[in-house]
Amino acid sequence: MKTYLVTGGAGFIGSNFILYMLNKYNGIKIVNLDKLTYAGNPENLKSIDGDERYCFVHGDVADHALTGRIFREHKPDVVVNFAAESHVDRSILDPGVFAETNVLGTVNLLNIARDFWRSGGGFRPDAKFLQISTDEVYGALGPAGFFTEDTTLAPHSPYSASKASADLFVKAYADTFGLPMNITRCSNNYGPFQFPEKVIPVMISNALAHKELPVYGDGMQVRDWLYVDDHCKAIDMVIDGGKPGEVYNIGGHNERRNIELVKKIIAYIRENADGSVDESLIRHVEDRKGHDRRYAIDPSKIKRDLGWEPETAFEDGIAKTIDWYLNNKKWLADVTNGAYQDYYKKNYEHR
Ligand code: NAD
Ligand code: TYD
Repeated sequence: MKTYLVTGGAGFIGSNFILYMLNKYNGIKIVNLDKLTYAGNPENLKSIDGDERYCFVHGDVADHALTGRIFREHKPDVVVNFAAESHVDRSILDPGVFAETNVLGTVNLLNIARDFWRSGGGFRPDAKFLQISTDEVYGALGPAGFFTEDTTLAPHSPYSASKASADLFVKAYADTFGLPMNITRCSNNYGPFQFPEKVIPVMISNALAHKELPVYGDGMQVRDWLYVDDHCKAIDMVIDGGKPGEVYNIGGHNERRNIELVKKIIAYIRENADGSVDESLIRHVEDRKGHDRRYAIDPSKIKRDLGWEPETAFEDGIAKTIDWYLNNKKWLADVTNGAYQDYYKKNYEHR
């Protein structure tokens, strides 16, 4: 039975991935190692409580003794490393933990995987380390052009710098030790279970509470949005078909300006949930420091080599996403209490 060690599986993309895989395959086992930071939420995985194919371990990817025990006990064939501090604004407020989890945590997992998967002079042929990375490692684009897998790494934020560092360590373990790996670099994801610090759930959550919608700067920055299930499908295809050592960019040619996105969210909520929500809630606030102007992915390699294409049109994906938040108000209320309010003040009050 193929065993996956998924790290950070209680977060946004990780939990969607675990649900996607258990829905798709019967004969697999998934071990989820998650520290349950503010971003990790066991509620996301409530629907698989008691599923024998699934096992949760509470802990840190940087914990050498614990990760060693997990490898000895569960003998994973594949590591899917989602665990990370994932938010640019938090990386501006407190960069240190980004180095600890994103860089040192990844290096720890690489060491354990390398030692565990060694066989004869090389590695077990069916083993793979999949590093879930981001297009943000490439830096920012001007109005034209796309990131390809050959674009030079030029991260700007402490978050993207930590992800680029981790990518280079993963590549170094392949180049130096021959560790079988892939790196995927995806554009911005959206969908259910996204923590309301990222722009889409911040805007949904605030609009539902009739709070101001804080648009950084002129709102003309561009992000390339991908529905989270399409990302999960791509990850599954890279695990199965990705050529060892390769990087795959994942994106769906779906560029939107932030201000357009915010207006779309307002229009959907106004039409489907609360007629009193309108554009007067928009407030242009002080810009993010070092704000990347535009991200856009060229996904032709993953399409050509693995046949991956996104399935969810943006209009459908954004409607499904907003509906999910409308139908899960308790989830939203639970994650926006206490510590969230402190973060919100720290990030927004001075703007
Ligand atoms: P998230 O913040 O929602 O979840 C991160 C998860 O990692 C949480 O469950 C958290 O508890 C866990 N975690 C944090 N530190 C840990 C540690 N030291 N040990 C174990 N677990 C720890 O993040 P996400 O949006 O789901 O992103 C997942 C991955 O995908 C990240 O590596 C991120 O860089 C990458 N990515 C995200 C996006 C996006 O749009 N969200 C796009 C491209 C790539
Ligand atoms: P975010 O969701 O934080 O993702 P990333 O920075 O990783 O792309 O932000 C997406 C875009 O939305 C980015 O250009 C910053 C902008 N933004 C706002 O305008 N207001 C906000 O409150 C947030 C969180 C983001």
